[in-house]
Amino acid sequence: MSEPAPPHQQANNLWTSRMAFILAAVGSAVGLGNIWKFPYITGENGGGAFVLVYLACIFLIGLPVLIAETLIGRRGGQSPVATMRTLTRTEGASKGWRIIGWNGVFAASLVLSFYAVIGGWALVYMGKAAFGLFVGADAEAVGAQFDTLLSNPWELLLWHTAFMAIVVFIVARGIRAGLEKAVKMLMPLLFVLLIVMVLYAMTSGSFGRAVDFMFSPDFSRLTTEGVLVALGHAAFTLSVGIGTLMAYGSYLPKHVNIARTSVSIAVMDTCVALLAGLAIFPLVFANGLEADAGPGLIFVTLPLAFGQMSGGLIFGTLFFALLLVAAITSAISMLEPVVEWLEERKGTTRVKSAMTGGFAVWLVGIGTVLSFNLWSNIYPLGFIGFFEDKTVFELIDFLASNILMPLGGLAIVLFVGWAVRREGLAEDIGLQGGLFKAFMVVLKFATPAGIAIVFLYNLA
Ligand code: PHE
Repeated sequence: MSEPAPPHQQANNLWTSRMAFILAAVGSAVGLGNIWKFPYITGENGGGAFVLVYLACIFLIGLPVLIAETLIGRRGGQSPVATMRTLTRTEGASKGWRIIGWNGVFAASLVLSFYAVIGGWALVYMGKAAFGLFVGADAEAVGAQFDTLLSNPWELLLWHTAFMAIVVFIVARGIRAGLEKAVKMLMPLLFVLLIVMVLYAMTSGSFGRAVDFMFSPDFSRLTTEGVLVALGHAAFTLSVGIGTLMAYGSYLPKHVNIARTSVSIAVMDTCVALLAGLAIFPLVFANGLEADAGPGLIFVTLPLAFGQMSGGLIFGTLFFALLLVAAITSAISMLEPVVEWLEERKGTTRVKSAMTGGFAVWLVGIGTVLSFNLWSNIYPLGFIGFFEDKTVFELIDFLASNILMPLGGLAIVLFVGWAVRREGLAEDIGLQGGLFKAFMVVLKFATPAGIAIVFLYNLA
C-alpha cells in the first residue's frame, strides 16, 4: 500500500510490546464490572448455571466484537472519529458508518462520567477500611455509613474529583509514559492483591461452599432474564462497543496477531471475574451474609465481613485498593478516545486535551453525584412513562450501557463483517483457512443476532 502509516501507527507512538497492549486492554476490561457487578449478578442469578452461560456469551458475543473493534482501531490509526472517517473512504463504505466513531467518543465520556463517581467510592472505602471504621460495626452501622456517604454531595464531589484527577494525570502523560507505565505498575499489583484475597478467602472456612455455589450448575435457577443479563455483561466486561479498544488498537503494532491477543484478553478478564467471586463469596458465606444482596454487595455486605473477621483491617484495605486499581485502569481507557479526538485539533497538546476532556466529563459527572442526594427525586424524562422513575444517573447509565454500547458493538461487527473489504482481512485478524471462515460467519450472523436480542430485551 502506498498510503503513509496513520498517525498513531508511527513507530514512536506504538505500545512497546504485545504484552503492553494486553495489560492495557485487560486493565480496561477488568474493572468495577468484574469485582462489583459480576459477583452480585452471579449471586442474584443462582450461581453455576449463570456462570456457564456467561462463559458462552464471552466467546460468542464479546470476543468477536473485541477482535473487530481492535482491528478497526489499528487499521485507522487515529481517534475513533478520524479512524472511521478514513476507513469509510479507504474501504469504499457508506459514510453512515462514521457514526461508530462519534458514538465511541460520546458513549465513552458518558460511561466515564458515572464510573468516576463510583471510582470515588472505592477511594473513600479504602480509607474507611484502613482507618478501622468497619471494625466491629453491625449491619445497621455499615449500611448507615454507605447512606451517609451518598447523601452528602460535597463529599461525593470531593472523591469524584480526586479520582478524575488521577485519571487525567495518567492520560495526559501519553501512551508510553502515561498509560503503559501505569498499567505495567498497576496490573501486577492487581493480580497480587487478588491472589492474596483468594488465599485469604480459602482460610475462611466457607471456600468449598463458594466453589460449589459458583461452579455446580443448577439450571432450574437460571431464568431467561439471567441469560440476557449474562449476554449484556459479556459486552460490558470486555469494554467493547464504545471506542476504548478502537483507541487502544490504534497504537497496536502491525505484527501483533489480533485474534490470539484478543483470546488472551478475554481469558484473563474471565479469570479475574471468577477469582473475584472466589475472593468475595467465601467471606459472605462465612459471615452468614446473603449472596444475592445486589449492587450493595461489596459496599455494604463486604465491609460487614471485614469488620467481623480477624485481619479484616488489612484485608479490607487491600480489597478496596484492588477495586480502586481496577477502576483506574478502566477509566483511563474511557478518557483515551476523547483525548485522541481533541488532540487532532491543530495546536492542541496532549496535556490540554486531557484536561479539557477530563473537565467536561467531570462536569457531566456532577449530575450523577447529585442523583444520590439533592436530585434523588428529580426524573428529567419523567413525562415519558418508561423513564418515570429514572434519576439523571440512571438515565445516563441506561443510555450508555443499554443503548449506545450494544448499538456500537452491533455496528462494529456489521461494519467488519459486511462493509470492510475481504482482501487482507484474514492476515490482519490473524486467522487462517477454515478458522477465518468460521469466524466470519459468527461475526456476520451469530454475534449481531445475539446483540440484537439483548438490545431489544433491554428496551422492552
Ligand atoms: N470493562 C469495564 C468493567 O468491567 C467497564 C468498561 C466498559 C470499560 C467500557 C471501558 C469501556 O468494569
